Amino acid sequence: MRGKILLTGLSGFLGRNLYLLLRERLGKDRFVFILRESRRDWARQMGLKGVYFFTDPLEARGLYEEIFGDNDVEMVIHCAGISGERLGVSWGEYERINVAWPIMLAESFCKLSRRGKFVFISSIGIYGTAPYKPYISEGDIPKPDGKYHLSKKIAEECLLDLFADRNDAQVGLVILRPNTLYGEGDKGVLWKMFCLLKRGLLPVWGSPLTSFASVDLMAEVILSVWQKENAGRVVINVSEPSFKLVDFLKEASANVLGVSKAPMVLPLWSIKHFLKIAPPWLGNRLSLLSLDKVYDTSKLEAFLGRAVYPMEAFPKYRSYYRSCVEG
Ligand SMILES: NC(=O)c1ccc[n+]([C@@H]2O[C@H](COP(=O)([O-])OP(=O)(O)OC[C@H]3O[C@@H](n4cnc5c(N)ncnc54)[C@H](OP(=O)(O)O)[C@@H]3O)[C@@H](O)[C@H]2O)c1
Repeated sequence: MRGKILLTGLSGFLGRNLYLLLRERLGKDRFVFILRESRRDWARQMGLKGVYFFTDPLEARGLYEEIFGDNDVEMVIHCAGISGERLGVSWGEYERINVAWPIMLAESFCKLSRRGKFVFISSIGIYGTAPYKPYISEGDIPKPDGKYHLSKKIAEECLLDLFADRNDAQVGLVILRPNTLYGEGDKGVLWKMFCLLKRGLLPVWGSPLTSFASVDLMAEVILSVWQKENAGRVVINVSEPSFKLVDFLKEASANVLGVSKAPMVLPLWSIKHFLKIAPPWLGNRLSLLSLDKVYDTSKLEAFLGRAVYPMEAFPKYRSYYRSCVEG
């Protein structure tokens, strides 16, 4: 694998972390980027090389063809997109940015690259948020609710169609559906939980689908899939299977936040028992505590032929979370 990686979304949380992690392993000369025109000064200040700028990603087909024509791009990691349910953002905008854009980029990649992988970052949330379920398994059928998750699901379907005829080709599709991501600069679910723990409160929000995946795990999965020959079309639910939330939060509250005794004393079985009789909305909020497993993990290991776990990335981000809680 000597080719380049085209990374979108460098200015966002995941894109930045993936760049830093992959750069460590592959070297900085392996990257090209596309960013909004409004990011030009920012890119200059960062000293970035190999950056292409667009005004409207849907009007940039020529630019994509130029990038794939001029660079030996062997992998696209498409991180850019509207990340989450945003008030005031129309369905049309979700469709443009989260559906039409990745398809246009993938079409150009398929047309101009002889080999490589197109990595699309979807979300585990496409399975929907209710009713209570302790973990996602392969047999579960996605039922997206809300514009954000629906846009990811439609994009997945379109990309799977686009790559359907290319099973023998050297160009493959990888769809990653991460759980809530953690790492430096994350959106705050984890550190908000730590804030509650610090105050002796039990964190009780989250959807049944909320578990965690580190940005390190994302980088590891991407590298593993990239190294795999001719992956065809692959969909992976990315979550940390060994991330037993209750144990983890106990340890974190004791060791990371300086709370000597974790406030959580309810054993897992009692939470599960309680959830069976609790109204769905409450189950929805509490089920975060009982999530400790995501089915697809063992399949991923079998598929890749090597283990990508355990990552145990959290200690690396300890001081970041401490500063969030203390700050
Ligand atoms: N964070 C999570 O926990 C999580 C979990 C599951 C899936 N994901 C998915 O992972 C991907 C990255 O998430 P993230 O947390 O890194 O999101 P983020 O921090 O909000 O970054 C989003 C990136 O997309 C770009 N972008 C957004 N709207 C755009 C537009 N209209 N035109 C051009 N560029 C646009 C942003 O560029 P600007 O900086 O120029 O605005 C930024 O680089 C997303 O697809 C998200 O759905 C994230």
